[in-house]
This record gives sequence, structure tokens and C-alpha cells, in this order.
Amino acid sequence: MNTLDNKAAQADTARCELPIGVFDSGVGGLTVLAALAQRLPHEHLLYLGDTARLPYGTKSVETVTRYALQATAKLVERQVKMLVVACNTATAAALPALRAAYPHIPVLGVVEPGAAAAVAASTTGNILVLATEATVQNRAYHKAIAALRPSAEVTGLACSLFVALVEEGWAASHVVDAYSGRGMAEVVAARYLAPLFAGAGQKPDCIVLGCTHFPPLAEAIRAVVGPGVAIVDSAATTAEAAAAVLGQAGIARQGGAGRHVFLTTDAPARFARVGSMFMAEPIDEAALELVVL
Ligand code: DGL
Repeated sequence: MNTLDNKAAQADTARCELPIGVFDSGVGGLTVLAALAQRLPHEHLLYLGDTARLPYGTKSVETVTRYALQATAKLVERQVKMLVVACNTATAAALPALRAAYPHIPVLGVVEPGAAAAVAASTTGNILVLATEATVQNRAYHKAIAALRPSAEVTGLACSLFVALVEEGWAASHVVDAYSGRGMAEVVAARYLAPLFAGAGQKPDCIVLGCTHFPPLAEAIRAVVGPGVAIVDSAATTAEAAAAVLGQAGIARQGGAGRHVFLTTDAPARFARVGSMFMAEPIDEAALELVVL
């Protein structure tokens, strides 16, 4: 091997060692991070939760695009080999802008993997997308599902309060509404979903959780819609897509346990407390850093 080849090989090895950058407005993207950690145990992961500016889902496309570019710039500054936009709202608003700004790194969103999961799970093609207001308005899932199954009948439903419930740590069934005795998450899920699932008539056979904050609410949603409806999200399919991209680009890390580092733009102790509910292991405050975007 000549000197130039040697240098190129060293650069490739160094690139494999870089982390995958992952960001969301808050703790929701940890549902994707957990799936990445499970599917890609050797990879270092660098997560940014933009908690200071959450929620993204009620903001305009222009604002979400600006936030997404700033979050990505912070991750790129720390050197990442790939970016996973673990936020449907940011994916729907800003994926083309992020890809244009960073042509040298693969940028993966969560909407296409979520749409693929929904299409695979639905028999009838009648699919309900639960997402933030911004994602529903943007019709990102409608477009992604139509690209895979043009005959699908897609309904979008904005469930913005789900984000606040999860950020508050109220997704678990033991957090109960004092008046009805039902789980808080179930009460809110019923308010959003019961009208769609009451009565006769055609009902969706698949719900796609089109916001990365929503997977912890799957049990509460199930309690409202009953057993016959598939409930899917984009975490596992995104991790699978990430593995494929790493393989194709030849930048997968080959061995050893991956390190997980967390950046947050506000209240690190709160991020660690609520975020730990999403992870197999509690988030170590020593692996958490407060940053300004
Ligand atoms: N978790 C984000 C998503 O997937 C958005 C939550 C929010 O900030 O509104 O859309």
C-alpha cells in the first residue's frame, strides 16, 4: 500500500469511529435512539434534544427549518458521520434543506421509514397518522404513503397534547386522572381518537405514530381503539435504514460497545429524569451536556 492509499485507509477508519448525530425537539427522539442503540450496538451516538425550544410541532415551517439547521450545525461541529433527524416535524419541514446544507454526510429522516412500517402493517390501506399539527398540515405522511401504496386512504390527526404529556413523564398507565380513575394518557387519547373509532363504518386498520414522542403512548391508544388495529412507529424501520446506509457507505463501526452522549439546550436534570424512561439504561448525567444553539 503506498502512502496515499495508507492515508485514505486511515481517514476511512477515523470516519467509522465518528458518532451518528441524532436530534429531536426534546426526549421524543430517544425512541429512535433506543432503536438505533439496539440495532447498531457498536455505534457511538450523539443525541441533541432542543428542549429550550420545544415544541416544534406547533411552529411554522420556516421556524422549524431554522431550528433544525441550528441543531444539525451543533452536531456537525462535534463531527458526526451521519445524521438521523429523529423528529417527524423537522423531517417534514427541513429534510431537503438539511441535505442541501450538508451534502457530505448522509441525512436520514423518520417519515419515510414510518410510512414503510404503516404500509407493511395495513391490510386495507386505511391508515390513520397521529402527528403534530405541523406534520399533519405538511401532509408528509400522505405523500410518503402514497408513494408506496397509491390506493391508500390516509387520514391525519394532530395530537399536539401528546407531546406535552410525554415530556411531563405522564405516558405511563399508573399516572391516573383523579376524577375518572383512568390513566391520564388514556383520557387524552380518548378525546382525540374516540370520535374516529365510534359507531359503524370503515375504520383505519393501522395507526402510525408520526411523532417520535408518541410510542410511549401506544398502550393508552390501544385501550381506546381496541385490539384489531395495528399501531406502528418509525423507530425500528429508521434503525434498519440507518444500518443500510452505514453499510452502503462503508462507514459502520466494526466492534466494541458504542458510547451514548447527550446534549440538551435546557434543564439537563429534567432531560435525564424524563429521558431515562425511554432508554434501557438510565441516562448518566455525566454523559449529558448543556449547549446553546
Ligand atoms: N418529536 C417531534 C416529532 O416527531 C415533535 C414534537 C414537538 O416538538 O412538537 O414530530
